[in-house]
Amino acid sequence: MTEAPILQLRGVSKSFGSVEILRDVSLDVHAGVRHLLIGPNGAGKTTLFNVINGHYAPSSGRIDFEGRDVTSLSVAQRARKGIGRTFQVASLFPRMSVRENLVIAAQAPGLLRRPAQVVSQEADEALSLSGLADKRSMMAGNLAYGEQRLLEIAMALATKPRMLLLDEPMAGLTQTERLAFAERAIELSSRSALLLIEHDLEIALRIAERVTVLSLGAVVYDGKASDVLTSPIVREIYLG
Ligand SMILES: Nc1ncnc2c1ncn2[C@@H]1O[C@H](COP(=O)(O)OP(=O)(O)O)[C@@H](O)[C@H]1O
Ligand SMILES: [Mg+2]
Repeated sequence: MTEAPILQLRGVSKSFGSVEILRDVSLDVHAGVRHLLIGPNGAGKTTLFNVINGHYAPSSGRIDFEGRDVTSLSVAQRARKGIGRTFQVASLFPRMSVRENLVIAAQAPGLLRRPAQVVSQEADEALSLSGLADKRSMMAGNLAYGEQRLLEIAMALATKPRMLLLDEPMAGLTQTERLAFAERAIELSSRSALLLIEHDLEIALRIAERVTVLSLGAVVYDGKASDVLTSPIVREIYLG
């Protein structure tokens, strides 16, 4: 990989009280490379996202985004620099229409104020990427579960992130929806750098080009997706 990474973590640790949840995590994410973060429940994946987007300050270590140290910046400051994310838990407005949700996302607090025309244009762009264009007027709460998850991703995209952190975007989807999502993720990676958390190894490997495996807060594998299944440590974690 010759290009500079869009995101670089060096020696990132995070403790809550006396419990060390992340241990000396170093990670390079490159734009245009679909990068998956996997690992058992409780490994620290969501915590790592919270440290990357600024929700938590790391106990030690350094985070660079597009070559700049962002370690001490707030969530809003990092969002302005282009770090967008979705959450494991639903975050849309169920009583508003699909498009209204996207408009709200596009003018999210923390982002710089943008003219109404730009907001509207970005909402429409995200709408067409989401594949929900024909449901633009439907109340978000009336969408099928899988469609709600797609809308949440579209909401994150409406902020035009340089990099998108997706926390288990496929959780609760049917197998058909997962396959459709996998294709969409491949499309999205040409617009924003993607770092995706996925619990299910098999589905993860359909999308991933690069995989980082976290176990007990530490990186135990970081490399090509095609080699992950032959890694003894990954086999031990996933296959027992
Ligand atoms: N704010 C917090 N305070 C204390 N412990 C936390 C906090 N957030 C997460 N943890 C703990 O950190 C560990 C990793 O959690 P998490 O990052 O959610 O794992 P994953 O997303 O890989 O399932 C868990 O043991 C969890 O209980
Ligand atoms: Mg999690």
